[in-house]
Amino acid sequence: LVEDIRRAAELLVQYRPFIAFTGAGISAESGVPTFRGRGGLWERFRPEELATPEAFERNPRLVWEWYRWRMEIIYKARPNPAHYALVELERLGLIRCVVTQNVDGLHQRAGQHCVVELHGNIWRARCMRCSYKLVFREPPREVPPRCPRCGGLLRPDVVWFGEPLPEEAWRTAVELAESSQGILVVGTSGVVMPAGYIPHIVKQHGGYVVEVNIEESAVTPIADVFLKGRAGEVLPRLVEEARKLLAHG
Ligand code: NAD
Ligand code: APR
Repeated sequence: LVEDIRRAAELLVQYRPFIAFTGAGISAESGVPTFRGRGGLWERFRPEELATPEAFERNPRLVWEWYRWRMEIIYKARPNPAHYALVELERLGLIRCVVTQNVDGLHQRAGQHCVVELHGNIWRARCMRCSYKLVFREPPREVPPRCPRCGGLLRPDVVWFGEPLPEEAWRTAVELAESSQGILVVGTSGVVMPAGYIPHIVKQHGGYVVEVNIEESAVTPIADVFLKGRAGEVLPRLVEEARKLLAHG
């Protein structure tokens, strides 16, 4: 792994700035459950009942109960060393943006300046009737929460299965992927589309793919370097290696 981290650091420095692409795994060490790993959310809940427009139509209270439960967990969570490592890579000019599938807002809380949220943000909600947008400071006391303007039903401003991704975010992510010579993929199973295409776009344009994951994923087959390990342990070591290379030219 030591050799691989050095190789990854060399690519990061030589072809900087990379972009980063993150999934639920980067927040696992903050105590936020992933979707598909062991103990993942989809093991305990069926996405059809929760993360789809039909589910919300059928039972908005159940869907909000699930989101409130996740908001409680995220409200208590703190960014972990993996999030802070990406902030340091941004400060060092080695990555220019984090494209994330996560809705927990932990990249922003860690101090990341450039974050593209492909699946929305769990703290934002919008009215189904008048499209009023609001940001929750803490989990809502009563669910389903009502629109303060028109009394209509609020929904989480999150992308559900079967829904399109926010257009602006998706376009930005594709432009970033097409114009980067490398991508640092952290903590994603890479199976959910279209978000999962982002690393493949970098590869198709001749860019390098460095992956950090505790196990192989759908991205691993196209990874130039696969750093097997927990993001909270591997990323700080990658930062240290890259900092040494930058210092000695
Ligand atoms: P989809 O229904 O086409 O499914 C695409 C992927 O979602 C599948 O490849 C699979 O990996 C995953 N998936 C679907 N059903 C699953 C199940 N029962 N168990 C585990 N994984 C399952 O999804 P889509 O139409 O591409 O969804 C659009 C977007 O909504 C996707 O980018 C997805 O990531 C996003 N989404 C967000 C949340 C959230 O809470 N942020 C939840 C679900 C989906
Ligand atoms: N360090 C690095 N990787 C980790 C860690 C860790 N500490 N813990 C788990 N992982 C990896 C798992 O091996 C897995 O590959 O993180 C990945 C988590 O994958 P998923 O649970 O599928 O999460 P994600 O890839 O973000 O799912 C994509 O699907 O349900 C939708 O919208 C939801 O954004 C989510 C999308």
